[in-house]
Amino acid sequence: MKQNNKFYVTTPIYYWNWLPHVGHFYSSVIANTIHKFHKISWYNSRFTTWIDENSQKAVIKAEEAGLPIMDYLDSMAKEHKKVWEFFNFDYTDFIRTTSDRHQKLVQKVLSHCYDKWDIYEWIYEWMYCVGCEAFKKDDDLIEYEGKNVCPDHLKEPDHLKEKNYFFKLSRYQTWMEEFYEANSDFVNPNFRYNEVIAFTKRWLEDFSISRETNTFGIPLPFDNTQVTYVWFDALFNYYTACNYSRWGDRNNDNFIDERDFWEENPNKVHVIGKDIVRFHAIFWPAMLASYFDLWEEIDWVLHYKKEDIKYLPSQVLTGWFFTVDGQKMSKSIWNVIEPVEYSKQYSKELLTLYMLSAFPIGNDWDYDRKDAILTYNAKLANNFGNLLNRVVVLGSKLWGELKVEQKHEISFTKYNKTFSENLLKYDLKSALDETFVFLDSLNKFVDEEKPWELLKNNPKKAEEVLFDLAEWLRQVWLNLYSFFPEKMGELFERLGLENYVEELEKGNLEELRNKTEIFKIVKKDWILFERFELPEEKEEEKEKNIKITITKDCEDLGLHMVSAMIEIPKVITRRNWWLKKYIKEELENIDFNNSERKNILDKSQEFYDKNNADDATHPSVHLQRIVESSWKLPNISNVVDSYNIESLKSGLSIWVHDVSKLKWEEIVIKIANWNEIFFPLWWKNAINIKSWEYACVDSTWERIICRMDCKQSNDTLVDKETKKIFIYTQWNSGCDKEYLQKTLNQVIKNLEDFCGGKLIK
Ligand code: MSP
Repeated sequence: MKQNNKFYVTTPIYYWNWLPHVGHFYSSVIANTIHKFHKISWYNSRFTTWIDENSQKAVIKAEEAGLPIMDYLDSMAKEHKKVWEFFNFDYTDFIRTTSDRHQKLVQKVLSHCYDKWDIYEWIYEWMYCVGCEAFKKDDDLIEYEGKNVCPDHLKEPDHLKEKNYFFKLSRYQTWMEEFYEANSDFVNPNFRYNEVIAFTKRWLEDFSISRETNTFGIPLPFDNTQVTYVWFDALFNYYTACNYSRWGDRNNDNFIDERDFWEENPNKVHVIGKDIVRFHAIFWPAMLASYFDLWEEIDWVLHYKKEDIKYLPSQVLTGWFFTVDGQKMSKSIWNVIEPVEYSKQYSKELLTLYMLSAFPIGNDWDYDRKDAILTYNAKLANNFGNLLNRVVVLGSKLWGELKVEQKHEISFTKYNKTFSENLLKYDLKSALDETFVFLDSLNKFVDEEKPWELLKNNPKKAEEVLFDLAEWLRQVWLNLYSFFPEKMGELFERLGLENYVEELEKGNLEELRNKTEIFKIVKKDWILFERFELPEEKEEEKEKNIKITITKDCEDLGLHMVSAMIEIPKVITRRNWWLKKYIKEELENIDFNNSERKNILDKSQEFYDKNNADDATHPSVHLQRIVESSWKLPNISNVVDSYNIESLKSGLSIWVHDVSKLKWEEIVIKIANWNEIFFPLWWKNAINIKSWEYACVDSTWERIICRMDCKQSNDTLVDKETKKIFIYTQWNSGCDKEYLQKTLNQVIKNLEDFCGGKLIK
């Protein structure tokens, strides 16, 4: 009976302060796939994913954004949810650690553990990395730019000394060792299990569970000057989701006590990344042992009781940490692949396939975009797609219906069995590998039987061959449904397999597997898996050392420049919170008539007038007009917005180029001579510029990259692919060089703060 067949899978609860990247997506897609498979296989399966909100960081960020804390967190939660909704992840609960039900539960747990002396007060002196929300020891740090920093965030940890409450983990030393011994598959993969045992055997130390200086979090029920430190709060999320309600009347048959989902369920799996394995594999079972009193005490030593396993998770499935360009992907260093954006560019299936089939869960890998496309093209677009296409096209020649009985001997029983076994072991890669091997054998069968020839010579046999192929494919689709539910749903529909999604979602995988089907080809010309081109190989970018030369004529006009080269990890078009807030504040305080700004603009105007340039508008004036009409600065990209605001404030024009698009290393500022070609921003056609104009020319390349004060060319446009920018601002006789440098410094600071930029030169 379904009710008795419980399964529970969780993702880590993600920190609220960054939209999920593919590292987070990885845990979620594993959990979703495992959940789907159990759900369609007649399990009462649950899948929870949450956000981890209680931290001091939230208070700081909300203050910076000028919002009440809960409004701020609500908006972040909404953004998180959108990501998982985009992927249609089938979670059964999405809750937050600020929710009432969670807070109440954590307080209940804390009281219980405190009452039995597992929590005690102590003065704490240590280092804490806010990025990891974790305490650090000297051994955990690495040397970087002369400082001892956290290897993941490249920042020095904070030094702390305060009163804290501690959890008496040391008391559970023997209990833990016995627990691991009795549950050798508790940590998957096995090498992580060995690490955990080695760590435990070295000696378990008590750990701090509260903070005195934090104001935002769950207050300790026995000392409200302290709030719970992130892990004691966060880990219990897994239990809260099973604990919060009881449905109906206990004496009624339909009564469901949600706690049963934890306590009466032997299958509880936590999918996590390797960085949080210690918390899940050591702290968490000990906390549960403390809360549920899972021990017997003999001579002051706590021992594990085998029957208590039902209160503990059955497995901690530890995923790999992948790097991008050889560096750990992290919110703090901006080398992030965003799953939604990436899937829109390619497809959801490409991302899922690559993550789940290229690497076994547990190892570290580099995310290689090229390999991801090649893997998808080979496995889904070619292997799967071509076979499907052949069956559909040839089948439609037989009046679009395939209905004879199975004739050929290719055993999918074995494939189905190993597929299920692998999924039940959470070995998703092997399950996919088996599938593609099976599809290879089907492709080979088609090549041998040549149904296109049979159609002409022996239509009866052609029908048999095509039916068998369709039936074997149907078995594959049923299996792949857990991985690619949307695409498989599409397939069922187009091949006239009615109500398949509904039946699967009800848990009827086995019934469908054993069903005899008739295939009706509803539509033959559609492409299920579009093939993707590899991105054009970009020329290896050599180190450019850009130099500006100002010709004598221009110097006579009083022109000088200050410049900087900046590495930009990502040019994001959506304006971020902090930049938004900064721009808003600056706009509130702006004085368009301040004397320095006015001076510069007057001098520019003088220059335009002298040269009869009536159509010229200084960029700062252009921006001023926009602001005065809407009181907003146009939202172009985080990079452009970061300097536009300074251009508006200072009255200076600021120019920016994508370094990879500059052909030469020398930029010459000169008076135009009519020969140069100029492509204005967003224009396809070249135009001539007036001979009196001064312009920036990429030396010897006859292209103008910047025209006069204001018009930048399309050639060196900063776009989503831009990695390095060259930025400069121009001096005219209305201001001094110090003013110019000060403005540029502010632009650099903005680029560092809001775009993760790094000044190179
Ligand atoms: N809030 C804690 C988890 C509490 S669970 C009770 C946390 N949050 S996190 O948002 O920083 O990370 C969530 C998960 O994403 C972790 O399992 C982490 O290992 C994983 N990953 C973050 N970056 C990753 C990669 N680059 N690659 C793979 N997984 C990564 O930790």
